[in-house]
Amino acid sequence: MHVFVAGGAGVLGRRLVPMLVAQGHDVTATTTDAGKRALLAELGADPVVMDGLDAESVGTAVAAARPDVIVNQMTAISLPHGGKPDIKHMDRWFATTNRLRTEGTDHLLAAAEASGVAHFVAQSYGSWNGIREGSWIKTEEEPLDPHVGTVAQPGMAAIAYLENAVGAAGGAILRYGGFYGPGASDDQVELVRKRQFPLVGGGTGYSSWIHLDDAATATVLAVEQKATGVFNIVDDEPAPASEWLPYLAECAGAKPPMRVPKWLARMIAGDVAVAMMTEGRGFSNAKAKRELGWQLRYPSWRQGFKEALN
Ligand SMILES: NC(=O)c1ccc[n+]([C@@H]2O[C@H](COP(=O)([O-])OP(=O)(O)OC[C@H]3O[C@@H](n4cnc5c(N)ncnc54)[C@H](OP(=O)(O)O)[C@@H]3O)[C@@H](O)[C@H]2O)c1
Repeated sequence: MHVFVAGGAGVLGRRLVPMLVAQGHDVTATTTDAGKRALLAELGADPVVMDGLDAESVGTAVAAARPDVIVNQMTAISLPHGGKPDIKHMDRWFATTNRLRTEGTDHLLAAAEASGVAHFVAQSYGSWNGIREGSWIKTEEEPLDPHVGTVAQPGMAAIAYLENAVGAAGGAILRYGGFYGPGASDDQVELVRKRQFPLVGGGTGYSSWIHLDDAATATVLAVEQKATGVFNIVDDEPAPASEWLPYLAECAGAKPPMRVPKWLARMIAGDVAVAMMTEGRGFSNAKAKRELGWQLRYPSWRQGFKEALN
């Protein structure tokens, strides 16, 4: 197949592109930075400079490549694109990512239609953001939490927009857990090392994690099988912060995390951080394993964190 990876030089793209190439696919991969063309070529892709927020740039890139499938991995969470991580003002930190998830997705879908691209696969997110009622572990049947009235609301609305648009086009929506692996969680690990990532309240909120390489193999399967609908791409062990955060600190060679009460965390880091750490929901990967035949190399963050941080 000819696969067009929008956002091919990012933390996931760098693992995904070589896997697609190794499977025998032709890959066109995009970056906004001409300086990263050589990196994409080394990974085995045909590099293209494209701005996902510019309809003409997207239309031209897709029309030139004429791929069989488009994979949307465009986000702007990293320092150069999103500025310094700022969970208290998540709406500002994620402002460009939210535009990429809405306008960027629309541009890619329009280009796909104009060039007769048959299939579409898109990055969504599934960690802590499941609806905060009922079970602690969510399937694809259960809704994400809109976090109305908080700084997470624009981001959740952008994710809902992307999922609806890609779903209506018959594409696959991959709700990846929190990424870890080469380059994916450096800013979080740095905070843990500085003891600036505390446990909030009882640390009862769940997260779901996924190693970049497992996220990439699931994406290859979704591409090859022309999957449709939503899939949680997370590991086997959704876990509360009270379990994964002290373990992450240990693996990073840091002192155990501080503990702060909810009221103090709310003042320092805002409502969303408190909700995430005390009421967050994890996700089940049963559907992706069953329907895509996905097998994980890192079924638990326990093994994965240790290897990634050594
Ligand atoms: N993903 C998470 O769950 C998460 C959560 C918290 C923090 N972080 C931190 O964020 C960093 C990773 O950032 P990321 O998840 O956004 O991935 P990333 O590694 O920056 O990949 C995003 C991709 O989107 C592309 N992109 C950005 N703006 C674009 C635009 N206007 N048009 C087209 N493509 C565009 C980038 O292109 P370029 O090649 O031009 O850069 C890149 O290829 C890590 O340092 C991690 O610690 C991630």
